[in-house]
Amino acid sequence: MGKLDNKIALITGGTSGIGGNAAVLFAKEGAEVIIVGRNSERGKNKEKQIRDIGNKATFFQCDVTDKSDIMVLQNIITGKYGRLDILFNNAGVLLTGDLNEITDEDWDIVYKTNLKAVIGMTKTFMPMLEMSHGVILNNSSVAGLQSHIAGKKTYLYASSKAALIQFTKLCALNYSPSVRVNCLCPGITDTPIYTNRDFSRFDSIPMKRIARPEEIARAALFLVSDDASYITGVTLPVDGGASLK
Ligand SMILES: NC(=O)c1ccc[n+]([C@@H]2O[C@H](COP(=O)([O-])OP(=O)(O)OC[C@H]3O[C@@H](n4cnc5c(N)ncnc54)[C@H](OP(=O)(O)O)[C@@H]3O)[C@@H](O)[C@H]2O)c1
Repeated sequence: MGKLDNKIALITGGTSGIGGNAAVLFAKEGAEVIIVGRNSERGKNKEKQIRDIGNKATFFQCDVTDKSDIMVLQNIITGKYGRLDILFNNAGVLLTGDLNEITDEDWDIVYKTNLKAVIGMTKTFMPMLEMSHGVILNNSSVAGLQSHIAGKKTYLYASSKAALIQFTKLCALNYSPSVRVNCLCPGITDTPIYTNRDFSRFDSIPMKRIARPEEIARAALFLVSDDASYITGVTLPVDGGASLK
């Protein structure tokens, strides 16, 4: 028996990295996974990878910063599945720069993706999640907890992820007991979000390595499954001890 048997799970940013690994794992645990992202080639590949081993997944192209895309997604999910049990708000972008280099466009991209889209997805799907007594998991970051970890130039990223933590807590307060809402704070994880692939700058992590995306996916599985049935409003660092420093 899987930990997510008969659950319908929507994962934003399921086309890559942490979300892609979560999509594979949730499907292995019995969920029917809805993968959302903008890149249809990567999305279709992920869908195929999951289906090829006999599990259930469907990719829908959707830009989470686009309200009309979210409306289309809501209609599809209502019509095709009729319910939603798990919403993993995972899609995110990382932009760094000195304060005087940051443009209005940079603010828009980071805040629209990392915060506004999560709020939009939550508003849109909360009624379905209330009906199913479902679960929301938001993917924040250790950068939302400790400003120095991801680097000193993460003004936009770190502040958007910090705001996401507070948004999570308020949702948990307001929608308890019907919907559990939690927040994951991964540490530095080996995914394509980093264009600079030299990770030696993170040598001070107590566990002496960065995370593998499947390690973050396993923590996500815990929080969305019934193993965490009495947990809501928490912020879980999965960071090899990085936030201790
Ligand atoms: N890697 C780390 O060290 C780390 C640490 C802490 C937190 N996180 C968080 O983990 C989450 C996943 O990141 P990752 O590391 O797995 O990076 P990634 O491999 O670059 O994945 C980012 C995902 O977000 C999706 N995405 C971005 N903008 C989107 C949009 N407008 N609409 C729909 N999907 C969008 C991308 O899909 P498309 O390109 O297909 O749109 C992609 O699947 C992010 O929220 C990130 O902030 C990562």
